[in-house]
Amino acid sequence: MSQCGMSEWKKTDSPTMRWRPPPLPLVFLLFSFLSLFIGAASGFKICAYNVPNFNPTKASNYRVRHTLTKILSRCDISLLQGVKDSDGKAIQRLLASLNRNSDRYEHYKYQSVSSKSLGNSPKDMEQYVFIYRNETVNVMGQHQYQKQQSFVREPFAVHFKSNKTAIKSFILVPLHSEPQQAVQEIDRLYDVFEEVSQKWNNTNVMFLGDFHAGCAYVNRANRKNIRLFSNTTFHWLIRDKVDTTVPDLTTCAYDRIVVHGEGFLKAISPYSAQVFNFGREFKLPKKRVLELSNHLPVEVQLKSSAPLSQATPLLILLSVCAIVQSFLSAL
Ligand SMILES: *[C@@H]1O[C@H](CO)[C@@H](O)[C@H](O)[C@H]1NC(C)=O
Ligand SMILES: *[C@@H]1O[C@H](CO)[C@@H](O)[C@H](O)[C@H]1NC(C)=O
Ligand SMILES: *[C@@H]1O[C@H](CO)[C@@H](O)[C@H](O)[C@H]1NC(C)=O
Ligand SMILES: *[C@@H]1O[C@H](CO)[C@@H](O)[C@H](O)[C@H]1NC(C)=O
Repeated sequence: MSQCGMSEWKKTDSPTMRWRPPPLPLVFLLFSFLSLFIGAASGFKICAYNVPNFNPTKASNYRVRHTLTKILSRCDISLLQGVKDSDGKAIQRLLASLNRNSDRYEHYKYQSVSSKSLGNSPKDMEQYVFIYRNETVNVMGQHQYQKQQSFVREPFAVHFKSNKTAIKSFILVPLHSEPQQAVQEIDRLYDVFEEVSQKWNNTNVMFLGDFHAGCAYVNRANRKNIRLFSNTTFHWLIRDKVDTTVPDLTTCAYDRIVVHGEGFLKAISPYSAQVFNFGREFKLPKKRVLELSNHLPVEVQLKSSAPLSQATPLLILLSVCAIVQSFLSAL
């Protein structure tokens, strides 16, 4: 008990002054309040997922939509790539599913912001789509990068604000690179950085998506030609050893999250950048996982703005001590 720092209480304990144990319902209430509080204060997740050919047909597949809903509902902001939904029907259907889901389990409402269809050939056009919680996220602006022939799918940058995060506002820059020119496209993200950071006077920039930044497309020797690698103000949060692919035959860190600057790096929960292996988490066979994509989602957590959340472990310790103490003194 002394490790709880409550030995002082014991000394003044006398039969008349003994602290009565709180009734069990009260203890239960305290615990539920605490778990609620921890849930609310848990960090802010940003996720990126390449879902090839996400069109109205794919969105109408119940199994696909249901699994995707479960994946996206863990995140405050998700970037989807591979979306082929020029009339918006597929995303509408997905949002309806997310918002129905949230009615049932949580209070969040989801909204989306999409780029136009991007690509070189009319047969292979894709959109970048951000899906975000409207209670925790505000969209401050959007910007389509337009330099001709620099990318196959030019980044569609969005300026976000959230008062749930330690970092108040930040810019997300997506990239689904063309595999054969991945090195050049990743390098050109530096030019996009200069453009958007000036446009919004904000250097808190995160790059995310399927860069094809591994295996045959980007190797060690290529790095000196990539400013996002050679300039040390950019921090690569998903490491080279990570496997962001589903098939057993490939082990490649294609999907990445990169942030610019010490300020942004400090606002990230340490070691939170990872692949979300939802097959394992939701106990789905590989066949089902592949129905969505041959990639896995990647994610990172931002630190919360609530100063109390930093004190959460202490609060838990103190209340556990108080409860233990109250039971012991009842003996
Ligand atoms: C979230 O969306 C709902 C429905 O569109 C709207 O009524 C509500 O005002 C929004 N909340 C915020 C915080 O924007
Ligand atoms: C965030 O800030 C807005 C005003 O900009 C305020 O209305 C809202 O309540 C704040 N949300 C939280 C969770 O603090
Ligand atoms: C840009 O932001 C910095 C701080 O982040 C601020 O000091 C400066 O006044 C801003 N400049 C403009 C033009 O808004
Ligand atoms: C690296 O990027 C920063 C932008 O944060 C820029 O100011 C700096 O000049 C760059 N360094 C080099 C060596 O290019």
